[in-house]
Amino acid sequence: MNEKIRTILQAGILAPSGDNTQPWLLRYKEDKNELEMFIDPKADQSFFNVGQRATYLSLGAVFENILIASRALEIEPEFEIYPHKEVDSQNPVAKIRFKDKTSVSKKGINLYPAIGTRCTNRKPYKKTPLESQEIKALIREAEGIEGAKLSLIVDKALKKKVASLVFKADIIRVERRDLHEFLYSTIRWNQEEINRKRDGMPIRSLEAGFGGDLFLRFCEPWPVMNFFNKIGVGRAVAMHAKKSIMDCGAVGLLTVKGNSPYDFFNAGRALERIWLCATSLGLSIQPVTAITLFFLRVDLEGDRAFSIKHRDILSDIRPKWQSIWADVLKDSRSEALLFRIGKSSSPPTSRAIRKELEAFLI
Ligand SMILES: Cc1cc2nc3c(=O)[nH]c(=O)nc-3n(C[C@H](O)[C@H](O)[C@H](O)COP(=O)(O)O)c2cc1C
Repeated sequence: MNEKIRTILQAGILAPSGDNTQPWLLRYKEDKNELEMFIDPKADQSFFNVGQRATYLSLGAVFENILIASRALEIEPEFEIYPHKEVDSQNPVAKIRFKDKTSVSKKGINLYPAIGTRCTNRKPYKKTPLESQEIKALIREAEGIEGAKLSLIVDKALKKKVASLVFKADIIRVERRDLHEFLYSTIRWNQEEINRKRDGMPIRSLEAGFGGDLFLRFCEPWPVMNFFNKIGVGRAVAMHAKKSIMDCGAVGLLTVKGNSPYDFFNAGRALERIWLCATSLGLSIQPVTAITLFFLRVDLEGDRAFSIKHRDILSDIRPKWQSIWADVLKDSRSEALLFRIGKSSSPPTSRAIRKELEAFLI
């Protein structure tokens, strides 16, 4: 593979993924100068990754990075996307042929410099609402992708309503043993582990501070966390997410036409553009999307995987949620991802790294 193609693919794999699981596989055919992209269904086994939708979303983000990087390096990416209706790891999700042409589309190349600096920032953000120019720019990025729409809430009272629903969904998150154990399987505790595994999240990127890191370590065995949940400490953890949403520039909901793998691939394309645009505007983003992924599971598989207590929470919060986002959720659109956005006073303490490109080549 030549250096330009390597640079393009390396830009691709800087995309975000749930808990930095990096659930993609790439086949590059030198003779045709063509790339095929596949999901890696084993990479993200989280309860959150229902029907591999989070995986498809990540692939959409990789795809978008590749298109942007390719055009920025003056190679025209000609592509086909295969609208999988069901999870399919054998057939490619997309194919991209790299063409050396004299005139290359410049679409999105302004976002290229942000690919390397985009990251999740879990630090507190300033309360200053986003400016209308910023809102317009972010919404425009989402609308460039088929079926995608971005809704942003800056109003303080509405943000508070969203935050209190996120809080309730977060209680489910901290009370589920599978989610607790999956989260811990992705935390990287020291530099040696970060460098060796090159996936998951460095503990310091969770921004819990020194005391918070100690607390997290202490809570690793499920019986400890379970005990804490029983005496109400889990609520304090969920409170943290609530506060972070109340104190931010805006809360954003990305929606797509439906909930098929193809819709989520498009959501990933839109998310990446939004995130790169935010990065170039000096804004930080953190997905806070347990709530939408719980709803998605209920829509795709019913609520049988939830305890009675958690079913009750979900059926209590869903109508409230739908009334907040009524404008966009009509016409049976699907929630793809919820995030908070704003100006952070400083960059993240630590950033999640990626595996070497070779690890994804098949
Ligand atoms: C589908 C999806 C869901 C995510 N959900 C959360 C979340 O609920 N909370 C959070 O802090 N980060 C969330 N993230 C961010 C990932 O943890 C992050 O992208 C990954 O660790 C890589 O780090 P980076 O974004 O800094 O490159 C999510 C990312 C994706 C793609």
